[in-house]
Amino acid sequence: MNHSILLKVAGKYGTPVYVYDEDRIRKNFRDFLLAFRSRYPKSKVFYALKANTSLAILNVLKEEGSKADVVSAGELKAALKAGFEGEEIIYTNNAKTREDIMLAIDSNVLLNIDSMDELNRVHDILKSRNKSIRISFRVNPCIDPKTHPKISTGIRESKFGIHIEEDLAFKAYRFARELDNVEIKGVHMHIGSQITDKKPFIEALDKLMAFVKKLREKLDLELDFVDVGGGLGIDYNSDDTISPDELAESLVQVLDRWSKRTGYEPELWLEPGRYVVGNAGVLLCEVQSVKETPYKQFINVDCGFNTLLRPAMYDSFHRIENLSGKGRGGNKTYDVVGNICESGDVLGKERNLPETKAGDILAIHDTGAYGFSMSSQYNSRPRPPEVLLWGDSAELIREREEIKDLFRNQRIPEDLI
Ligand SMILES: Cc1ncc(COP(=O)(O)O)c(C=O)c1O
Repeated sequence: MNHSILLKVAGKYGTPVYVYDEDRIRKNFRDFLLAFRSRYPKSKVFYALKANTSLAILNVLKEEGSKADVVSAGELKAALKAGFEGEEIIYTNNAKTREDIMLAIDSNVLLNIDSMDELNRVHDILKSRNKSIRISFRVNPCIDPKTHPKISTGIRESKFGIHIEEDLAFKAYRFARELDNVEIKGVHMHIGSQITDKKPFIEALDKLMAFVKKLREKLDLELDFVDVGGGLGIDYNSDDTISPDELAESLVQVLDRWSKRTGYEPELWLEPGRYVVGNAGVLLCEVQSVKETPYKQFINVDCGFNTLLRPAMYDSFHRIENLSGKGRGGNKTYDVVGNICESGDVLGKERNLPETKAGDILAIHDTGAYGFSMSSQYNSRPRPPEVLLWGDSAELIREREEIKDLFRNQRIPEDLI
């Protein structure tokens, strides 16, 4: 993104502020969709809202032909608000409440079921309301995606999905097939996030297709789709990651191999989140002070892990640039730290930056995914605004929270006043 525009945005809307590049989001989505569609026309892309749920961005992706992958009632409502139809939404979650399930039924979304217990609950609700619903099951293929443990979601010990092992998933389909108010449409998995190697995807899809073959042969069940979830990594720090083309090439080879054997060609559903928005966002913050200790030099900025959780949560790396320090020289090694009262609030360790001064604007790059959507009001700090850029124009798409918003839903009991 153009530096002078970013500096103007920081000047106009203040800091911290998330800034997104609309053209980049459109391009990322198109590249991803085309990679799969050109090789496998029966591909459908469901943007994973959790990466960034801002309505303006959802509108952009809806315009590009995306469908929606949601994980909560809030995300479901956001998708509907952005114009997605119920038929274009898949709803995945491992602990849906009765209210969540009723909303899913009323909105006509595809419900992705996570356990036998949940299936029974869904069935009871459907019976009592004389309704029906389209479903799939999330299955666990037990594959290690070789990413951060906190975002490995299809390993043996994972809480997500029904294990293919021990025929658990098979039994779930066999049971569901007998229920007259659920229509089984497909199968789903999601093995993890920020995956930079194609091998785990290939292995997992291979297992999934073997499972699908068994459903056809033993239960006479022909699924409309296989959903391989999201997970494609992005290049945060010269990571050696795969492209959508490489991923598509590998996955389509697996599908072709199975379809030659079985004559069966399901729709291929994908749920990218990070790839679509990750590198299209930057977080701008302002340097408040620079501190030298006998051991380290710190840059204190006006945001922290309440604003961008990823470095503290996943030890993740984001490139940091001093937008005000261009050509200044005098480079030093700094730790860029946030304003939260915890030692773990480090946004960037040992970064080589030009000599930095209070008032400088820093850009923390590749923060379009799991940035704002994971932000909080921890330490009673209001959340930042979001701005969308297209060409030279900038538009506020979410207002900055104010201090008064922190108190909006609180009540003090009468006897304490
Ligand atoms: C079910 C599901 N689908 C899709 C995604 C999106 O993953 P990513 O942003 O890595 O593409 C996630 C992320 O956790 C997920 O849980």
